[in-house]
Amino acid sequence: MDLPRPRGPLSEAVHARLEGRFCELPPVGAGVDVLADDDLQLALWMLYELHYRGFDGRADLEWDPGTIACRRQLESRFELVLRAATASFVDEALGHSADVVDQIEHLVEVVDGPSLAGFLQRTATREQVLEFLAVRSLYHLKESDPHSFVLPRIDGPAKAALAELLYDEYGAGRPERLHATLYGDALEAAGLDRSYGAYVDRVPGHTLAVNNVMSLLGLQRRLRGAALGHLTAFEVTSSVPCRRIAAGIERVGLPDVTAAYFHEHVEADAVHEQVAMRDICGALLQAEPELRRDVLFGVAACLHLDGLSATAQLAAWAADDRDDRDDRLAEKVAS
Ligand SMILES: [Fe+2]
Ligand SMILES: [Fe+2]
Repeated sequence: MDLPRPRGPLSEAVHARLEGRFCELPPVGAGVDVLADDDLQLALWMLYELHYRGFDGRADLEWDPGTIACRRQLESRFELVLRAATASFVDEALGHSADVVDQIEHLVEVVDGPSLAGFLQRTATREQVLEFLAVRSLYHLKESDPHSFVLPRIDGPAKAALAELLYDEYGAGRPERLHATLYGDALEAAGLDRSYGAYVDRVPGHTLAVNNVMSLLGLQRRLRGAALGHLTAFEVTSSVPCRRIAAGIERVGLPDVTAAYFHEHVEADAVHEQVAMRDICGALLQAEPELRRDVLFGVAACLHLDGLSATAQLAAWAADDRDDRDDRLAEKVAS
């Protein structure tokens, strides 16, 4: 993959480093909105990408100490802000019940955001649906890869259940059924580019954060509970929205192959949500009860960042609409 275009001093510095030029990472300013900042989240995304498919000719940097130090500098700030933003929800869930399924379901209820899926189902234009598909490709073309880093870090029933869930995500032995491949097919049928990372320059900071949190949690053993909490929140909030998104794709006249990816997830994730809550998180906490707070942190982090991303996306589309209306009004006045 080619390197994305930098968006500020942090991503400039990381970009330079990945091009082989030494560059000190500047400090993160006190006023930076860490969970949405284009520059910081893009810098972090590039650093994490070294652990996935990477960038052409830069494989040597994956374990380069200076590059890892840059990642630590940015991700420790990211984790700190994310923990602070979700702490009250986690406390509330802990006080609500002693049962992990109840706690997770409670978080899904209270950590709210607007329904992007509902907007796509009923209101979005064809261009907006295409933009949604392009932006989401950043994750879905490596679907489940961040959570698979957790497998060697756990054991027993939770490990067996995670492997079972991942087996589905990775096509159950059929490469053409890899969920990432199904998403590539969906993009291609809609006339979009299916190459890995093709749309990264168009992905806003808050959505890069949605992607980065999975790498933050998946790549560190101490955060294994939070990674599985994150996976669970993802699965629990997938089935109904996928049905709505499929309906939106069909409403704007995009091909069946594009809707098929989402139809596939309506049923699959209704099963996965139970496996994730009971067989993965339930079993993990039986074996390692001290991870409960972290599991709930992972759940809340996923929901919180999804909410911020949906809010920002809907606001951006509403602003585009207003601009269009103003343009039409100006044309009318001028004519
Ligand atoms: Fe999937
Ligand atoms: Fe799933």
